[in-house]
Amino acid sequence: MPEYATQPVRPMRITFGGADRSVLEPQGPLLTRRMSDLDGLFADGGAWTAAVADGDPVVYQVACSPVPERPTDLPQSVTTIQPGAVGGEFHMTKGHMHPVPQGEIYLGLSGQGGVLMFDGERAEFIEMAEGVIAYIPPNWAHRSVNTGTEPYRFLAVYPGDAGHDYGWVLQHGMGHRVRRAAGGSGYRLAPYAG
Ligand SMILES: [Fe+2]
Repeated sequence: MPEYATQPVRPMRITFGGADRSVLEPQGPLLTRRMSDLDGLFADGGAWTAAVADGDPVVYQVACSPVPERPTDLPQSVTTIQPGAVGGEFHMTKGHMHPVPQGEIYLGLSGQGGVLMFDGERAEFIEMAEGVIAYIPPNWAHRSVNTGTEPYRFLAVYPGDAGHDYGWVLQHGMGHRVRRAAGGSGYRLAPYAG
């Protein structure tokens, strides 16, 4: 057997589990983000405060497989973002930059959503639905958004040493905000400020 700097995990069969296929089997860590965890991220702070007071709902969950986040491994997770908006801004993930510049792949599983990416100067938005793959290059912060009326779900596969820098987004923003379009159907991209 060859020598490895990091001992590999055993080959693993991973399936989608749960009644709504929102988890990976076997299961790893489960991350739950409530409205109160998204402090300072929505443009309308008053609407965010009201939403926290009104039951502090779960905005999204990230269900991981047991593949560890360490160099040379490729961990995966299924994220489910519940539908809704705060002051007209669609429910979204916190968004992060990879401190170690690594790429990432998202695969849409169900619902309607998108990936907002920002490199500090340029912003891109990729519409997501079942079967769509988004490639996130290194050095692009990324945030997922539910633009539909059902839960939006996607699979993420990423290098185990990429890491999650949430402070970068608080400091630099994401270039755009994804808002409900006038008339209540679809979305529009708005400048980040305001
Ligand atoms: Fe990432």
